[in-house]
Amino acid sequence: MSGFRAYRVHEAGSRGRLERISRADLDHGNVVVRIAYAGLNYKDALTATGRERMARKFPLVCGTDLSGAVESSEDPRWHPGDEVLIHSFGLGAEHDGGFAELGRFPADWTFPLPAGLSLLEAAALGVAGHSVGVALELLEKNGLRPGDGKVLVNGATGGVGSIAIDVLSRLGYHVVALTGKADRAGYLRELGAAEVLDRASMELGARPLEEQLWAAAFDSVGSAQLEWLLRTARRDGLIASIGNAGGNEFAGNVLPFILRGVRLIGVNVNNPVAMKLRLWQRLASDWKPRHFERFVRRIGLDELPQAVDALIAGTSWGRHVVDLGRG
Ligand SMILES: NC(=O)c1ccc[n+]([C@@H]2O[C@H](COP(=O)([O-])OP(=O)(O)OC[C@H]3O[C@@H](n4cnc5c(N)ncnc54)[C@H](OP(=O)(O)O)[C@@H]3O)[C@@H](O)[C@H]2O)c1
Repeated sequence: MSGFRAYRVHEAGSRGRLERISRADLDHGNVVVRIAYAGLNYKDALTATGRERMARKFPLVCGTDLSGAVESSEDPRWHPGDEVLIHSFGLGAEHDGGFAELGRFPADWTFPLPAGLSLLEAAALGVAGHSVGVALELLEKNGLRPGDGKVLVNGATGGVGSIAIDVLSRLGYHVVALTGKADRAGYLRELGAAEVLDRASMELGARPLEEQLWAAAFDSVGSAQLEWLLRTARRDGLIASIGNAGGNEFAGNVLPFILRGVRLIGVNVNNPVAMKLRLWQRLASDWKPRHFERFVRRIGLDELPQAVDALIAGTSWGRHVVDLGRG
C-alpha cells in the first residue's frame, strides 16, 4: 500500500482520525525523519480531540515530541541514519508533529539523540521529561537541595508526575505523590514516592496560611490545588507551576509570598536551544529516570484514540509512547 499512516485533525474543534497520507503532504522543512516513537502529552490529547482550539493549521499531524532516524536531509548537518529528537517549536499545533510514520522538519529544530538515551527513552521523556528538567533546574537555582524537606508531586500518575517522581527520588529527595488514583499507590511507590496522598480524602482548608508542609512542589494540575500548595508551602518554599490538567484559574492571597517568602515559579519548555541541549544532557545522565519500564506504556497508532480519551478523562496513568513501527 502506498503512503504512510498519520493521525491528523482536519478542522477547528473536530476530532482527529487515523489515515494514510503521501509524501506530498509532508510539512515544510529540510530534514525528513522516519519517526520511531512519539510521546502522548496532555496538550496532544486536547488537540487530537478538538478541545481548546490549539491547532493552528489544517490538516495537522498531532504530537508535540518525537524521536527517529533521518531519512534524507538538504541540510549538511544531518545525514541518513542519524538518530534525532524533535520537540516543541509549535510541533503538533503550528507544524505537523509526531503521530505519523514520516515527518519533515526544519534542521534547526532537530537535535541529536542525546548519548545515554535510546529512541524509546527520548520519546518517553519528551516535553514531559523536559518540563521536569526545567522545573528541577529552576528550583535548584533557587536553592532546593535533597535534605531540605518534602517535595510534593501533584498529578502524580501522569506523564510529568511519573517522571518527576522517578528523577527526584533518584536524586535523594523525599517525594510525596498526590494522586486522584489511590489504587495506583503501589505504582507510585515503585517509581520512588516515599508517601502517597489520596486527593479524594484531602481537606484543602480555607485559611490563607495552613500548616507548613512542603519544601517544594511540582504541580501539573493547577486550579484550587495550586492555591492550596501555596498555602501549605514551608517558609521559602518553591512551587513549580508546570501544568493545568485540573484547570487554568486559581484564586489566592499574597500572605504565603509576603509572610513565608514562598516563590511561585513558572515552567515553560520553549527555551533557547543551548538550554534545551544542556537539560537533555542531564536527563540522559545524572537526571535519567530509573524506571522507564514501569512508566512507559507503548501503544500503536490505532490505540491512540482510546489513550487520548483516557488522558482527557484523567483516568490515564504513566507516559503513553506511540510506537510508529507497531501495527
Ligand atoms: N509547562 C510546560 O512546558 C509543560 C510541559 C509538559 C506538560 N505540561 C502540562 O503538564 C500537565 C500534565 O501533562 P501530562 O502530559 O503529564 O498529562 P497526563 O499524563 O494526562 O497527566 C495529568 C495528570 O493530572 C492529574 N489530574 C488531576 N486533575 C485532573 C483533571 N481534572 N483532568 C485530568 N488530569 C487530572 C491526573 O493524575 P493523578 O490522578 O495522579 O492526580 C492525570 O494523570 C498538563 O497540563 C500539560 O499541559 C506543561
